[in-house]
Amino acid sequence: MPNSAEQPRRVTIDPEGPLLVEGPVEVVGDDGTVHASRRFAVAICTCRRSRTYPWCDTSHRRRVKPDGGRTRTAGQQETEASS
Ligand code: FES
Repeated sequence: MPNSAEQPRRVTIDPEGPLLVEGPVEVVGDDGTVHASRRFAVAICTCRRSRTYPWCDTSHRRRVKPDGGRTRTAGQQETEASS
């Protein structure tokens, strides 16, 4: 459904991730390429780490906590980081 004054398209900012946009949408890349999605809602990458850019593929999660506070060495099981 196209956006209108009565039903504006909603964009939600995730401070640690993508922009969530109600679809369908067309996104114009910085090289002029048009990417279209007919989904009900789409997540647009803001970190530029996505392998499916401009769509978010959750790669941003690695930027926030690279190992989730855990450490792992070769041959060992994952353990809590000691501090
Ligand atoms: S914001 Fe999710 S991969 Fe970039």
